[in-house]
Amino acid sequence: MNILVSGVSRGVGIAICKKLLAEGHSVYGISRTHSDEVKELQAQFPNHFFFYSFDLSDTENVRKEIFKNFLNQISLDALVNNAAIAYDDIITNLNYEELLKMYQVNVFSPMMMTKYAIRNMILNHKQGSIIHISSISAHTGYKGLAMYASSKGALEAFSKNTAREWGGKKIRSNVVVPGFMDTAMSATLSDEQKDRIYKRTSLKEATDVDSVADTVSFLLSDGAKSITGQCIFVDSGTI
Ligand SMILES: NC(=O)c1ccc[n+]([C@@H]2O[C@H](COP(=O)([O-])OP(=O)(O)OC[C@H]3O[C@@H](n4cnc5c(N)ncnc54)[C@H](OP(=O)(O)O)[C@@H]3O)[C@@H](O)[C@H]2O)c1
Repeated sequence: MNILVSGVSRGVGIAICKKLLAEGHSVYGISRTHSDEVKELQAQFPNHFFFYSFDLSDTENVRKEIFKNFLNQISLDALVNNAAIAYDDIITNLNYEELLKMYQVNVFSPMMMTKYAIRNMILNHKQGSIIHISSISAHTGYKGLAMYASSKGALEAFSKNTAREWGGKKIRSNVVVPGFMDTAMSATLSDEQKDRIYKRTSLKEATDVDSVADTVSFLLSDGAKSITGQCIFVDSGTI
C-alpha cells in the first residue's frame, strides 16, 4: 500500500512508519523536521520511505505542496493523520492566535488532506482508508486541555461523517484514541503530574506508542475491512 503519514519526525509518527515499513508498505511522511530517526529509516528503506518537509499550519498550500509536489502521481491507499500540537492553558487565558494555529495544524490541514486523499482514491479506484489520531482528553477532560481536546473532538466528528459520506465507495475512516504517552508532547509534565494521570488508568501506566502503531496498522489492513466510523481506544483503560 501507499500510505501518507503526517508527523513522522518523532513519537507516535515514527513508530507508525517503522511498523508500516516493516510490513512492506511504502510510506510518504511529512513533518517540519527531517529528524535523525527519519534519516535512519530512509537509509534502511530507501525505496519505500519518502520524506517531505512541510509546515501543516500552512493550510492553503496543502494541495500544492503535499499532493502536487510530494505525491505527484502516487496513487494513495491510506492517510494517517497523526501530526498535532497541544496548546494548553486554562480557558480564561485563551489566546486567539494560538488557538487558530493549533486548529490549522490539528484540524484544518487534516481536513484538506482528507479532501485530496479521497479525491486521489476515487480517481485511482482505490478502496482507501483514513485514520486520525485523537486523544483521550476529548473524552475524559483534563484541566488546561480544553482547546486541544476540542480540536480532537472536531476530528472525531469529521471522521464519523467521512465514513458515512464515502462508505459507498468503500473508503473507510476511523479514529485511534490514545491515552497519555511518554513522548515529546508530554515532556513538560512533572513526574507528579504523570503519576496522577497513570492513576486514572486501569493498567496504571502510560499508553505504549507501539500499541498505538499496531492498532493503526490493523485498521489499515484487510482484517478491518468491516470497521468504519469508529473510535478505537488505546489508552491503558483510562477511567
Ligand atoms: N503524547 C501524548 O500523551 C498523546 C496523547 C493522546 C494523543 N496524542 C496524539 O498523538 C499524536 C502524536 O503525538 P506525539 O505524542 O507523537 O507528539 P510529538 O512527539 O510532539 O510529535 C508530533 C509530530 O507532529 C509533527 N508536527 C507538529 N507540528 C507540525 C506542523 N506544524 N507541521 C508538520 N508537522 C507537525 C511533529 O513534527 P515537527 O515538529 O518536526 O514538525 C512531530 O512529528 C498527536 O495527534 C497527538 O495529539 C498524544
